[in-house]
Amino acid sequence: MNSAGIVTMSYIAATVLFILALGGLSNPETARRGNWYGIAGMAIALLATILGVVTQQYVTLIVALLIGGSIGLILARRVQMTQMPELVAILHSLVGLAAVMVGFASFMDPSAHFEGVEHTIHNIEVYLGILIGAVTFSGSVIAFGKLSARISGTPLTLPGRHLFNLGLLIAAIWFGREFVLQAAAGGGLEPLIIMTVIALIFGIHMVMAIGGADMPVVVSMLNSYSGWAAAATGFMLSNDLLIVTGALVGSSGAILSYIMCRAMNRKFLAVIAGGFGTGGGTVASVGGEQQGEVVPIDAQETAALLAGAREVMIVPGYGMAVAQAQHIVYEITRALRDSKVNVRFGIHPVAGRMPGHMNVLLAEAKVPYDIVFEMDEVNEDFPNVDVSIVIGANDIVNPSAQEEPDSPIAGMPVLEVWKGKTTIVLKRSMATGYAGVQNPLFFKENTRMLFGDAKDSLDAVFKAL
Ligand code: TAP
Repeated sequence: MNSAGIVTMSYIAATVLFILALGGLSNPETARRGNWYGIAGMAIALLATILGVVTQQYVTLIVALLIGGSIGLILARRVQMTQMPELVAILHSLVGLAAVMVGFASFMDPSAHFEGVEHTIHNIEVYLGILIGAVTFSGSVIAFGKLSARISGTPLTLPGRHLFNLGLLIAAIWFGREFVLQAAAGGGLEPLIIMTVIALIFGIHMVMAIGGADMPVVVSMLNSYSGWAAAATGFMLSNDLLIVTGALVGSSGAILSYIMCRAMNRKFLAVIAGGFGTGGGTVASVGGEQQGEVVPIDAQETAALLAGAREVMIVPGYGMAVAQAQHIVYEITRALRDSKVNVRFGIHPVAGRMPGHMNVLLAEAKVPYDIVFEMDEVNEDFPNVDVSIVIGANDIVNPSAQEEPDSPIAGMPVLEVWKGKTTIVLKRSMATGYAGVQNPLFFKENTRMLFGDAKDSLDAVFKAL
C-alpha cells in the first residue's frame, strides 16, 4: 500500500474510533472507555496527518507541537473542576481562530492553483470558514468572560438589536458576493477583511445579549459552531478527517443544544434572541421583598433528620463543585445506605456550569450510577421523600420558575424538592444563584437552611451521623 493509502486507512480507523467515543460518552458507565477510544483516534489521526500529508518542515512542526502541547499540559494540570466550563469556552475560541487563520492562509497561498468553478467553490469555502470561525472565536471569548465572571451575566439588550443583527447578516451576504466576484479577478482581500470584522462583532453581540440562565445553551451552541468551523477548515485544506470530525462535533453539539433547550423549556431562537436571566451571584434584596422567615438548622439536627429518614434525595448544584464536597457526600450516602436508608441523587440537566457537571463529580467520588437519576425520573417522587438535601444548588430548585410567570426563569423545569417532607438547603448565604433570581424555596415552611461551606457542613453532619 502506498503512503496515501495508509493515510486513508488511518483516517477511516480514526473516524470509527471517534464515533465509538461519542457512543461511549453517552453513558456514565461507558464514558471512560469512550474517552480512550477518542484518545486513540486522535493519536492515529495526528500521526497519520503529520507523517503523511501536512508538511516537509518537521522542525517548525515539532517546535509548534511542543509549545502547544506544553501549554495544554500546564493548563490541564492547573485547571480546577469549577473552571472547566470557561476552559472549554476558551478552547472553542481557538478552533474558531484556527479556522480564520487557515482561511486567510488558504486564500493568500501563492502555491494554490484553482481554475474556474473549482476556484469559486474554494473561495466560498474560504468565506464560510472564516465567517463561522470568526463568530465562534469572538462568541467564545465573550462566553469565557461571562462564565469566569470577568464580564457581567446581565444580558445586553440594545434597542433595535434584532435589526442590528439582521443588518450584519445582510452585510455579510453582500460582502460574500463582492468577495467571490473580486476573487475571480485576483482580488477580494478587502471584502474578506470587512466580513471578518462583521462576524467578530456579530459573535460578541450575540453572546452579550444572552442572559445568565441561558448560558448552558450558549456553551453547547458554541461547541457546535466550533465543530462546523473545524469542518470548514477541513474543506479548505481538503482534509477528509477534519471534515468528518468537525461534522461529528458540530452535529453532537447541535443535539446537545436541543437537549439543553428542552431542559430549560426554551426555544432555540428565543435563546439566540437573548435577554433571559438577569445576572449572576448577586446578593438577594432581602429588605424589599419580604418572603417570610428563614429557619436555620445545624449539623446535629441535620444528621438526626437523615438518620430517621427512609427516603433521602440529594440534589447537588454548582456549590457542591465549588466546595468540592462530592467525596464527603459519598461518605454520607454510604453510611445512610448501610443503615438501610434509600438514598438517591436527583440531577437537573443544567446543574452546575457545564453539561454533565454533577455526573462527572459524582463519578469521581465513586457514587454508584444506579442511584443517580435524571430530573424527569425522580420529580414525581418528591411527595414520598422524607428529606431532600440541596447541596449548593439554587436556580434548579427555584419554585418561582413554576409559580411566577414574570420570573426571568419562568417555564424552566425545576426539581420540586418542596413537595417532600423536609428540605435542607446547604449554602453560605442568602445570595442568589447564577440567574440572579430570589428563591422562595428558602422561605417555605418545610425548608431548613444549613449555612456554611457545603464541605465543612457535610463534614460536621458526617461526624454527627
Ligand atoms: P446556582 O443557581 O448557580 O446556585 C449555586 C449556589 O451554590 C449559590 O446560590 C451559592 O450560594 C451556592 N454555593 C456556592 N459556593 C458554595 C459553597 N462553597 N458551599 C455551599 N454553597 C455554595 O447553581 P445551580 O442550582 O446548579 O444552577 C445552575 C445555574 O447555572 C443555572 O442558572 C444554569 O442555567 C446556569 N448555567 C448552567 C450551565 C450548565 S451547562 N450546566 C452553564 C452555564 C450556566 P451561596 O453563595 O450563598 O453559598
